[in-house]
Amino acid sequence: MIPVKIPAPLCRKLEKAARTAAKASYSPYSKFRVGAAVLAGSGAIYTGTNVENASYALCNCAERTAIFTAVAAGERAVKAVVVYTPTRKATSPCGACRQVINEFGPSALVISVCNSTERTATTLDRLLPAAFGPKDLSGLKKR
Ligand code: THU
Repeated sequence: MIPVKIPAPLCRKLEKAARTAAKASYSPYSKFRVGAAVLAGSGAIYTGTNVENASYALCNCAERTAIFTAVAAGERAVKAVVVYTPTRKATSPCGACRQVINEFGPSALVISVCNSTERTATTLDRLLPAAFGPKDLSGLKKR
């Protein structure tokens, strides 16, 4: 699938939104702040941060917070996801987040930025090849 092209000013806006979102991170256990900004089908931007829990397994990543917020607002498509971490190396979305991005943006642009000049830009289908998704359930027989 062909990923969307994002004009540079919009890309900068998404990066700024992801940086701002990381400020609200609730990460008392890992102390690892993450911010995400999603460019949704309508063109609107939704942000999210990681929200941890004393029951560690219930931690929610920044990317999923942002996507769930977008979907709750009525969006059904993800064009791009920008992830920000206050690190020297850019951080790629975890496996669970890749699967969730796939649901709404199988060819979404995925950009990671950090506190150095390092940045990565790729597409979801490269991060999660041969993904399981909605298409795999479409062949179900009714009974
Ligand atoms: N985290 C994210 O928010 N996004 C990722 O893609 C990877 C990990 C969060 C989850 C947890 O709060 C912290 O980073 C450490 O794993």
